[in-house]
Amino acid sequence: MTNKSALQIARAEYRPKLPVGLQGNVSVKEGAPTESVSDHEEIQKLFPNTYGLPLVEFVPGEAKSFAPMNVGVILSGGQAPGGHNVICGIFDGIKRLNPQNRLYGFLLGPGGLVDHKYVELTADIIDEYRNTGGFDMIGSGRTKLEEESQFESGLKILNELGIKALVIVGGDDSNTNACVLAEYYAAKNTGIQVIGCPKTIDGDLKNDQIETSFGFDTACKTYSELIGNIERDANSAKKYWHFIKLMGRSASHIALECALETQPNICLISEEIQEKGLTLDEIVADIADAVAARAAQGNNFGTVLIPEGLIEFIPAVKKLIAELNDVLSSDKYAQAQPEDRVAWLVDNLSTENAATLASLPKVFAEQLTGERDPHGNVQVSLIETEKLLSAMVAKKLAAMKKEGKFVGKFSAQHHFFGYEGRCAAPSNFDADYCYSLGLSASQLIANGKTGYMAIVKNTTAPAEQWVAGGVPITMMLNMERRSGQMKPVIRKALVELDGKPFKTFAAKRDEWKLNTCFVYPGPIQYFGPSEVCDRTTVTLKLEQE
Ligand code: FBP
Repeated sequence: MTNKSALQIARAEYRPKLPVGLQGNVSVKEGAPTESVSDHEEIQKLFPNTYGLPLVEFVPGEAKSFAPMNVGVILSGGQAPGGHNVICGIFDGIKRLNPQNRLYGFLLGPGGLVDHKYVELTADIIDEYRNTGGFDMIGSGRTKLEEESQFESGLKILNELGIKALVIVGGDDSNTNACVLAEYYAAKNTGIQVIGCPKTIDGDLKNDQIETSFGFDTACKTYSELIGNIERDANSAKKYWHFIKLMGRSASHIALECALETQPNICLISEEIQEKGLTLDEIVADIADAVAARAAQGNNFGTVLIPEGLIEFIPAVKKLIAELNDVLSSDKYAQAQPEDRVAWLVDNLSTENAATLASLPKVFAEQLTGERDPHGNVQVSLIETEKLLSAMVAKKLAAMKKEGKFVGKFSAQHHFFGYEGRCAAPSNFDADYCYSLGLSASQLIANGKTGYMAIVKNTTAPAEQWVAGGVPITMMLNMERRSGQMKPVIRKALVELDGKPFKTFAAKRDEWKLNTCFVYPGPIQYFGPSEVCDRTTVTLKLEQE
């Protein structure tokens, strides 16, 4: 008896495609010294040991011998398809350098390092997880590594296990923390290297050096399949408007990619809403107008894509959230009874923010004032923007009906796609990309690098032509205000309104709004022609063109 699906069994045999530079023996090609994206002096001062390092590229080279070493790995933050392949790549990479090398996985995220919870990852374990989705091999968590006591506790277990290098697989915050940890261990001459790896389905960890974060490809394809299925259902029954919220935190990359894949009637882009300074009422009016225009043609159905972080980008709500973030941490707020908290806030916020809060439906106001995550972010996945918008659209349409401006029916269905895609079996792209990232990490370690992130570039070309290497994390840092203090952080990449993906969408959306131009992408394919199975995201293709 096996607990594995037929696809899982077949997929275990898949051998990720590799860039030429990682196929055999590897040499390191170093570039010129680097600088941080801005705030050079402050960042150099904060990172004297890891600032200014060169970019690194891996090219075919001569065989070399390496002394045995132990390596640790941590998965940090939200799950993203391909994480297991990063670990498989690290494992195979270090075993190739020296079969005596060992890999330890810290359990349930950075907390595993601090609390000394770990497992040795042997070949048996690794083979169980090749090309699978999920982070369940060692689990993940959101403990923030930022206190000296945590670094010291980590150092203790790393020394005990004889670990020479730690790989932290995470998003922008976790990689910023990896950089701080690398500097701390370098400053103390511990000899322990720290390497980062770019993970997040949100797609907001990208810049000149990182073409895409892993997981974005598979997650977007999974959501696009679901959206396409819903669109086909809408087009068949012709009676529902579907309001679909998509994960992605602040950035609208996922919503935009899914729109490019599925051509919905409406896709809201938070970054544009902020740029135009739109109010909630204006957004609602725009959707209601589209519903009325389609109804006038006899089409009482459609799809609306909503990025998860939308609410934070509506200027009035953004101001409210900024004040809430301070007020919510006060003792007085904590002392108020849970059912009285919104009322307490209305009395204690600035007049403008109190008015915004009071104007929101109660359920929604409660969601907005809920607990923050460990990084201080509003937990946007818990805020039901899709329901808020559809309720407001229904109200607006009722008023329009009285004025004779809407002749038709409006019935809404709601969906939130996030968890459905974060642990999907990685697409060929993510399986290949992640395995290469893992191999790159092992090479960075073998070549004594610390404070680097593993990278793979030229990712829209066939995998053989990809270019693997490493980028000093300090190169991606700038100073930003976080929780009231200026801190060095990796800049979060939001949707660029002058970028090709957005412009392509903007050029088409009026046509998609009124007409039914749905595209049905279907499920991710793991076996079949390369143009179907190895296809990457439209976003990446447009950005790299
Ligand atoms: P990361 O930024 O850690 O990659 O997480 C991505 C994400 O899926 C977001 O899109 C979402 O807002 C958040 O995680 C949800 O977090 P949780 O897993 O704690 O519900």
